[in-house]
Amino acid sequence: VPPTFQAYRIHNEDGKIRGRLEKITLDALSAGEVVIEAAFSGVNYKDALAATGAGKIARRFPIVGGIDVAGYVYTSTDPRFNKGDEVVVVGCGLSEEHDGGYAEYVRVPADCVEQLPAGISLRDAMALGTAGFAAGIAIEQMEKNDQRPEHGPVLVTGATGGVGSFAIDMLAGLGYNVSAVTGKQAALDYLRSIGAQEVILRESLEMGQQPLEKARWAGAIDNVGGDLLAWLTRTVKPFGNIAVIGLAGGIELRTTVLPFILRGINLLGVQSVRVSPHFRHRIWERLAGDLYPTHLQAIISRQVALHELPTVFEGYLQGEVTGRTVVALQD
Ligand SMILES: NC(=O)c1ccc[n+]([C@@H]2O[C@H](COP(=O)([O-])OP(=O)(O)OC[C@H]3O[C@@H](n4cnc5c(N)ncnc54)[C@H](OP(=O)(O)O)[C@@H]3O)[C@@H](O)[C@H]2O)c1
Repeated sequence: VPPTFQAYRIHNEDGKIRGRLEKITLDALSAGEVVIEAAFSGVNYKDALAATGAGKIARRFPIVGGIDVAGYVYTSTDPRFNKGDEVVVVGCGLSEEHDGGYAEYVRVPADCVEQLPAGISLRDAMALGTAGFAAGIAIEQMEKNDQRPEHGPVLVTGATGGVGSFAIDMLAGLGYNVSAVTGKQAALDYLRSIGAQEVILRESLEMGQQPLEKARWAGAIDNVGGDLLAWLTRTVKPFGNIAVIGLAGGIELRTTVLPFILRGINLLGVQSVRVSPHFRHRIWERLAGDLYPTHLQAIISRQVALHELPTVFEGYLQGEVTGRTVVALQD
């Protein structure tokens, strides 16, 4: 490892959260058994919250940002990994308590590391990142709870975002009839091109006030929370599943018990950060297999270099980004 290398570090300066590129040494990184020569990372909504301080993500400062990373094992004191192995890390406390993936070299606990599944590249893995991983978990949980394409349409909210785009693509690939809710008028063609059969503009939604509205959706993947999630609980068909992933529109959930006891609907929580190695392995196998996005290249909206990172976060906070941003970590 060179004596110093580039990293995007987040500081707390008198209560103000600021991220910037700086040269750091390996010794400055949090402890771990595996050092990775990093190739790619990605940008998630949570990365934008962490880098700007708009959400409390980092638990200590300074900390290297980036909740995901993929690259080559450089050194490992854990026998499961050898120099040169292609590996991927998503979640697992990166950019929270461990230094994260926005650096040329990354050091992580071995239990966080997954061998790159056969058939996908390091860049593909980071195009997927936590967004694709969370979409995969949502689908896995819904299917475990008896979601089937023949039950009817599944609605995806926050549709143009990373999780939303992958959820649409993967569900369509499995044979589901997918509807999408978006705030972006300009994204109708994009959403249809990645698999949505119906696209609904958020501003045109009539949510109603009743504890139970007309049941329309056999299931839903929700990235937004707040009023939209509350409306979903009132409009999902009997025994349908709602995978609850995100909070882009708020953390509140105001509903009643009626959808649960009269329609038997299910809220399924999605937690992608602290999953068991066994479950993580299963999801990565599916991401490289039956869930591999048909339109992965169309969902990657841009690639940026490490030094361009500071410019990307604001768009996420404003809900303006479509698809996924890949970050190339080596010049
Ligand atoms: N539970 C987990 O483990 C897990 C894992 C990954 C992500 N997440 C969460 O899932 C959400 C999506 O993550 P992401 O990385 O896909 O984010 P993203 O790429 O930034 O996408 C979020 C999308 O939500 C919509 N949106 C933004 N602001 C909104 C608002 N005020 N009201 C309604 N919709 C709004 C926008 O899509 P449209 O314009 O198309 O509506 C936006 O593109 C985030 O809240 C993230 O924290 C959770």
